[in-house]
Formats: sequence, C-alpha cells, structure tokens
Amino acid sequence: MVVHGTYKYIIPLVVLLILITGTGACADQEPVPATGIIPQPQSLELSGEMFRINNATMLWYDKENTALESSASLFRSEILKYTDRKIRVAAKEGSGNRISLEIIRDHTIPAEGYRLSVNRSGIRISANEGSGIFYGLQSMLQLILSDESQHRYIPVPRMEVVDFPAFSWRGMHLDVSRHFYTVDSVKRYIDYLALYKFNRFHWHLTDDQGWRIEIKKYPKLTEVGAWRKVDNDLQFHGEKNRYKDSLYGGFYTQEEIREIVEYAAQRYITVVPEIELPGHAQAAIAAYPELGVTGKEQEVRTRWGISPVIYNPFEVTFDFLEDVFTEVLDLFPSKYIHIGGDEAIKDQWKESAEVQQLIRELGLADEHALQSWFIGRVGKFLEENGRVLIGWDEILEGGLPEGATVMSWRGVAGGIEAARQGHDVIMSPNTHLYLNFYQYENGPTNWAKRHVTNLGNVWSYDPYPQELDLEQRKYIIGAHGCIWTEHIQTFREVEYKLFPRIAALSEVVWSDRLNRDFAEFTGRLQHQVPMFDKLGVNYYKEELQREGDVME
Ligand code: ACM
Repeated sequence: MVVHGTYKYIIPLVVLLILITGTGACADQEPVPATGIIPQPQSLELSGEMFRINNATMLWYDKENTALESSASLFRSEILKYTDRKIRVAAKEGSGNRISLEIIRDHTIPAEGYRLSVNRSGIRISANEGSGIFYGLQSMLQLILSDESQHRYIPVPRMEVVDFPAFSWRGMHLDVSRHFYTVDSVKRYIDYLALYKFNRFHWHLTDDQGWRIEIKKYPKLTEVGAWRKVDNDLQFHGEKNRYKDSLYGGFYTQEEIREIVEYAAQRYITVVPEIELPGHAQAAIAAYPELGVTGKEQEVRTRWGISPVIYNPFEVTFDFLEDVFTEVLDLFPSKYIHIGGDEAIKDQWKESAEVQQLIRELGLADEHALQSWFIGRVGKFLEENGRVLIGWDEILEGGLPEGATVMSWRGVAGGIEAARQGHDVIMSPNTHLYLNFYQYENGPTNWAKRHVTNLGNVWSYDPYPQELDLEQRKYIIGAHGCIWTEHIQTFREVEYKLFPRIAALSEVVWSDRLNRDFAEFTGRLQHQVPMFDKLGVNYYKEELQREGDVME
C-alpha cells in the first residue's frame, strides 16, 4: 500500500515517543534510529521498532540472476570497505535473520521503483527490475553507513517503503577538459551519483582547453589536443599557477573509457559523452588545423573564457566528426549523445569569404542558421545510427534540429521554448543547478565570483516551469547538475562542490515535490554526516551546521 505524506509526521512522532519514554526504550529496549534516506522515498512508514543486522544476518538472492548477483556483490563490498563488516550470502532462502532481494511482478511499482520492507525477521527488497533492487540497496547502504552506534549489530528501523523516481533523467555533469581527473576519481564521482540514485553521468570530454578522449583514427587529438601550456591566466581569482614550465593535461584511453562505462552500468548509470561543436573546439583544431576556418596553427587554449576558434562547416569537418562519432558510439551505448552547441562565437564564419559563400549556396539566412544546419547534419548522422542528439539551449537559435533534446542552462527559457515545440528537455539552469558556483558567499573556488547556489536554492528547484501546461510538461524528462572546472584543480575540490548539494538535487529529480519539507530534509542530511566521514568525502561542513534557508 502506498501511503503518501506520512514520512514527515512519523519521524517527529518517533522522536517524541523516545523522549516520552525517557530511556528511549521501546520493544527492542534501544532507541529506534532515525532514518536518513535521501532522496526522500515516495512513501515510508515506520513502525517504531527495529531490526538488527548482526553476524547471523545472511543475504539471499537468486544467484542465477546476474543483475542481482552484481548489485549484491557491490553492496557487500561497500559494507566491508566502509564498516569492516562481512555480510554472508545464504545458499538458499531461509526464514532466519536475513536480507533478501527479489525480482517480482508488481504493476503498482513504477519504473525503477522498489519496495523495501524491514520487519521482525529481516529486510526484503523487491522490484520489477534490477535497477529497483539496486536503488533499494542504496537506501539500505545509506542507513548502514550513517549508523553511528557502537553496537555489535547495525540497528535498522522497521519500515515499509515504496519508492520510485519522479523523473526518468537524473543527471550530473563533470567537465574534465578544464581540469583533468583520474580514472579512479571519475569512478568515485560515479559512486556518489549511484548512492543518490542518479542515472546519468554527463561526461564533458572535449573543450578549448583539452581534448580528453582517445580517438584511434586521429591520434593527434590526444598527442597534441590533450596538453596545454600553462600561463599566468591560471592565476585568475587568486589561484596559484601550479604548473609553470610544464604542460598540463591528460586523456582517457579507449580501454579506460570502456572500463568507466561498464563501472557506471553496474550502478545503473548511463554515461552520456559530450563532444563539443561547432565551438569550444580549439583543442581539436590545434591538433588538426585544417578543421579550422583560418587554417592557422593554434595552440590548445590556455586561458579560460570562450575561444573564437570554430570548426569550418565544410566536408573535411563532417568527415572528421563522423569518424570521431563512429568511435564514440562504439564506446558509449547511451541512446543520447551530447554535442554541446553552446557559446559558439561566429566571428570567424562572418569573416570568411568561403563560409559566406556556403551560406548563400545553402540559401541560409545567417550564421545562426548555418549553426543549425551544421548541428542538423551531425544529428542526422546520430539518428541514422540509432541515437538522439542533445545540445545546450543555444541549439534553438537558427531552428532546432529535428528530434533534438535540449539541455536548458541559460535559465529555463530555452527549455520552455523547446517543450512548446514538442522537444524533450533536460533542465539545468545555472541559477540553481551549477554546482561549481559558491555554496555560500565566501567559498574557496568559483567560476564567476558573483554566483551563489546554496543548498536550499538547489533543493527548492522545480524542473516544471509554471509557464508550461500539463501537456507540455511531459517533455521535461528531468534535471541535471553541472560542475564546470575552470577553478577546480583537484578532485577533492570537486567533492567539495558536490557535497552536500548532490543530496538536494537528488530530491529535485526523485522525490514527490508536494511532500517535501526543507527543514526535514536538512535533518536527514545531518543524519548522513557519519556516512560522509566514513566515505572520506570532502564536504562543505559549515552547511550542515546552519539552519536551512531557502533562497528562491
Ligand atoms: C555552458 O555552461 N556553457 C553550457
């Protein structure tokens, strides 16, 4: 039975019960631990008692089912890694103290959903699909890792949870061009997304300041395009230049990329690669100057800001891009492929007689229409290969290519317009979902000093704009946080940007908007602090000491 709206009332009730009984005694003679599941489940009923995971607890699941086997084994290894407790696997289903995982047929549980039942005899997670079982295990993992008690057992509140996501697209982006992070760091990022039930990792692999994906047919992309000289501009906003007199960079081999895609898939996360075009292409053009408009030699860009260097719109470029995407599609099974499309400065197109000639031959109105034509060609190639193009909201300018999905970052206007035109939309407005912005006024690193996106600001975001009617809202498939890394030199700083705002974003994309309360959320977040410490994550501690204030 799904009981909406009970969650926020039951926790205070349990706390009250504990206070009234003085010693906190209840049926099990121990205080019942609070539950800090984030994102907030769609429904959760506590019974006021608890179950103990102890040395006798056995994990049971159908070992023939590879999805269950994989999720169970990940769960066991995380518990072992972070709590030093070994959870044993039962040979067959028994009735004793156990955690059981079961695939069932239950049409009342929506896609990706699960049922979690903790009662006297044990814990049962059931779902229609492997993803649901995985998410149920993440809820359990959060409870277990947040436990601070020093008992020989882990107390788990008895409860009935029915849970499923509000949106099918729950994503986080990471820019690895401006600063490069190791394979292990990227895996760690994916771990964090998995813990909060995200299902898309948007990997920003190419930009003016570095090309980070090995392409076999074009080795110079990584021999040349992955490395930049370092100049004093890296001192921007007081940062010290750490790389003087040496090149800065790095890239992922195809083998490493396959490993990361597989690692993410085991955690029900699809990796969506982004290959930027027609702008943000200076690193590629540094490697292959014939792809540029001027034909001049370029360096990989060393400064932040947007480069005016843009791909030329001729066959040489489309041949190149089709070759690149052929390798990209082979590496990434994602239905969606991101082609960037943002911030393409078109001065070089304006100044080139050949490009102007092409615009006339194609009967196009201007450079914006040329960009639309350019992106449309790439979109057609992707479509012929069974994929869907995603672009930043600038791809609306000059006409949206057929079948394109829009990621709305310059606020929500682009998303609204695309939905009105019947295109799918992912909301990623910088005002609320750019996690590279300060968490508070005096954060240590930032993209642009004036921007602040605090915890409440993220948490309060509603992916459905008021302007859209119910029919148009169905095009909003989800929301997405971004971390641009111009001023984020280390992965420790990436973590700091992510935590705890990732928790707030997870509620935006997963939980029932009408049934959430910010103060209650921050209570659950506080409950997760021991988990952050066990994970060794670098988080913004001050946030967790502050009473929440929602910034609209
Ligand atoms: C962007 O922030 N340029 C998408």
